[in-house]
Amino acid sequence: MLKNFDCGLLRREHTGKNVTLAGWVHRRRDHGGVIFIDLRDRSGLVQVVFNTELSEEVHKTAYGLRNEYVISVEGEVSLRPGGTENPRMPTGDVEVLARKIKIFNTSLNPPFYINEEVEVEESLRLKYRYLDLRRQRMKNNIILRHKIVKFMRDFMDARGFIEVETPILMKSTPEGARDYLVPSRIAPGKFYALPQSPQQLKQILMVAGIEKYYQIARCFRDEDLRADRQPEFTQLDLEMSFVEEEDIFVLLEELFTSCVETLKPEFQMLKPFPRFTYREVIERFGTDKPDVRFGMEIGDLSDILGDSEFAIFRDGVKKGGKIKGIAVPGCAGYSRKQIDDLTNLAKTYGASGLVTIAIQETAGDSPAGIDMEAVKSAIVRFLNPSVVKQIIEKLNGKKGDLFLIMVGPEEVIGSALGSLRTELGRCLGLAQKNLLAFLYIKDFPLFEWSKETGQWQPMHHPFTSPREEDIPFMDTHPERVRARHYDLVCNGYELSSGSIRIHTRPLQEKIFRMLGYTDEEINDRFGHLLEAFDYGAPPHGGIAPGIDRLVMLMAGEENIREVIAFPKTQSATDLLLNSPSSVSEQQLKELHISLRNV
Ligand code: AMO
Repeated sequence: MLKNFDCGLLRREHTGKNVTLAGWVHRRRDHGGVIFIDLRDRSGLVQVVFNTELSEEVHKTAYGLRNEYVISVEGEVSLRPGGTENPRMPTGDVEVLARKIKIFNTSLNPPFYINEEVEVEESLRLKYRYLDLRRQRMKNNIILRHKIVKFMRDFMDARGFIEVETPILMKSTPEGARDYLVPSRIAPGKFYALPQSPQQLKQILMVAGIEKYYQIARCFRDEDLRADRQPEFTQLDLEMSFVEEEDIFVLLEELFTSCVETLKPEFQMLKPFPRFTYREVIERFGTDKPDVRFGMEIGDLSDILGDSEFAIFRDGVKKGGKIKGIAVPGCAGYSRKQIDDLTNLAKTYGASGLVTIAIQETAGDSPAGIDMEAVKSAIVRFLNPSVVKQIIEKLNGKKGDLFLIMVGPEEVIGSALGSLRTELGRCLGLAQKNLLAFLYIKDFPLFEWSKETGQWQPMHHPFTSPREEDIPFMDTHPERVRARHYDLVCNGYELSSGSIRIHTRPLQEKIFRMLGYTDEEINDRFGHLLEAFDYGAPPHGGIAPGIDRLVMLMAGEENIREVIAFPKTQSATDLLLNSPSSVSEQQLKELHISLRNV
């Protein structure tokens, strides 16, 4: 090795030791006869001193150093002179008195500061990712990711799981996104698909008798990207034979709690993880990935306001709709402009409008209700003290809150209020910090109706088993069939999805047919799986936590790009490699591909 010690590990007890360090010049200060360098390697920083008294020659070389030069120095570890210690640096008690120096490489002036945590435009960071990764925050994220994945591997191994790799050149498997396709050279006109997940192969591994499988699996999905979505991402993919829902819940809860407690003990969790049904979260939070670190739950006001003289409420309920609302804490003082902005936001979430009721902090309160003088609303003349009091109670609000109310079809207003709740929770900083609020959701519907295709589609994926007692509804009321599908959600993000699977041919074929596949398509796309089921498939189930999202939450980041070494941009490009990129005519020819004018 060209070094025998790590910069960031030097401490008082190493005083007097001769060390050879190697790394990057993080910062250089020239005090005339003495030059100070903060030398950086992966472990951290240490101060190196170049003194003319020790060596004229070495001091002269240090004079020419600039940030990010790669050097090695040899010298003695020494206590810093009294009063010059730096308590903010772990190595702040000591410094290295350099006797020798070697410059391995110079560096251009970097396009952004590496030695300061300043905001840098993301495209610049991605283009120079190797410089960005030298920064402390990114280095910490990458190291945390490594530790989480190692923790998972050790945990799974200790529980008898076997890691099995599955191919990347695969066949299309439906997970709701478009496939990335790879043309075959040897079979003209044929394509591999990159796996959207190893779903079918992990099920086939259960038929193969592996019983407990896991894989740190790369998945590829061509879909619209968001802060928590990348075209390629990583799952802890797992599958078990002879299990029921409870086995998976217990396993994951143990994995996540022990992982957080070991690696990020500053976070708290709700223990045991709360469990909700799908209906419950949709009713209370308007979303199937609720952030329960704060309240502001949705309440049904149809009974209170349904026979109001305000025609929009009355007619809305008569038409079969509902009236629902939330209480936004402490926002009774919102201005006209803020309320207009909220109304516009509600409309972007699909609501036809928004009624607000502001109840001043100072409102008088009697058994008859709230003093109407302190109530501000466009519909104030349709309200009365008792109704206002009931609204406050129903929405778990208080004086000083702003009440947001919508009327309309239940799914529309539920989801719009849910989105408003999420957005307001974020803007108002309502979520308790340092809490990772993991929770389980179960009893999802098996199917959802797609207006676009005019077909039923699976809420999870077509391999999910229906609940046995709901199978009789499959032909008559598909919307009533509940799935053995569960999600693990944390702080408003879907962290994992999984299910107990179908393991018999007749039921699997029936589901495929209900989803609109023809017999030919079933055979072509899923024949291998159905055939495997014919040879003694055990009952099995699994789940696949998204590792990028977990690391993001544990790192306190808000975008998964911050925890991926080489992520893609929002438009799925890699700015470092400049990909996707053109290929040569020759390569296209070999792949039997000709491009139209693009
Ligand atoms: P699902 O499609 O729900 O289930 O994915 C499981 C988890 O993977 C993560 N995830 C993503 N992370 C980053 N970018 C993306 N584009 C992305 N898409 C999904 C999420 C999600 O919860 N085969 C099933 C699992 C199973 O049934 O066992 C599956 O892939 O955290």
